[in-house]
Amino acid sequence: MKSFINVEDLGPLDKAMAEAFEIKNDRYKYQHLGKNKTLMMIFFNNSLRTRLSTQKAAMNLGMNVIVLDVNAGAWKLETERGVIMDGDKSEHLLEAIPVMGCYCDLIGVRSFAGLTDREYDYAETVLQQFIKYSGRPVFAMETATVHPLQAFADLITIEEHKVVERPKVVLTWAPHCRALPQAVPNSFAQWMNAAPDVDFVITHPEGYELDPKFVGNARVEYDQKKAFEGADFIYAKNWSNPGVTNLADYGKITSKDMSWTVDTEHMSWTNNGKFMHCLPVRRNLIVTDDVIESPNSLVIPEAANREISCSVVIKRMLEAL
Ligand code: CP
Repeated sequence: MKSFINVEDLGPLDKAMAEAFEIKNDRYKYQHLGKNKTLMMIFFNNSLRTRLSTQKAAMNLGMNVIVLDVNAGAWKLETERGVIMDGDKSEHLLEAIPVMGCYCDLIGVRSFAGLTDREYDYAETVLQQFIKYSGRPVFAMETATVHPLQAFADLITIEEHKVVERPKVVLTWAPHCRALPQAVPNSFAQWMNAAPDVDFVITHPEGYELDPKFVGNARVEYDQKKAFEGADFIYAKNWSNPGVTNLADYGKITSKDMSWTVDTEHMSWTNNGKFMHCLPVRRNLIVTDDVIESPNSLVIPEAANREISCSVVIKRMLEAL
């Protein structure tokens, strides 16, 4: 596997899931694969779970790890071509990327959407430059439009906690005080659509439609209560306006409707549903204290499974070197 961005990159999902559970049962089984190999993790944005779980997964596989926080100690990087670099940015990404590639065998990249230019973000410009110029296999650690390591961990978590063969899984928008990217809901939708035994529903205020390439064949229900009825899993997430129905709204907050916050009343509409969120979460905007602290909350097992999803991806990349 040369890059990991979309669910298709893993090949048959049942095989990847089997590998995930194999690794979860014996997470050091493939430690020999990473001997004398180095992972470079490059962060343009903050992280807690991705940073720790990816490093742990790489160490489980016997790798050395280098972490670069681009905005803390490295030269400030220009990402655009054609810019006269007379400002505060000392180095261009197009030199920095091949240099980084000299020091490692695999690269993980975190680079969020700017949320001002939809075309630039949805072209995954920064990630694609790493793929083109690093000379190394590259995986997304949440990029402008996708967060596949999270979605894979979410699918593992659903598989572990489902009590019916074909659970109803609902992705719900929830309000937030800051404009957030669409990467997590995009990937979650993509992975739920790819999972064979999931009844998948997306609910959000009108105008917050996700990009059709991620929505796929999912059912979209604008009435949140109707969407929640009979749900086995509620996956809450805020996202800023994707600009699908009105490009001028791209990246903006066009609703702060607090009636969408997931509280105990919302959960009472479900089939004793489990609550999920990728974290970090702002309590009492996205979800109330009592829901996230309830026995039905899966936020910690989800985070734990980030180590597993990442182990599968790194293992696949090491095997293909
Ligand atoms: N869920 C997730 O990616 O968390 P971090 O932003 O802390 O890495």
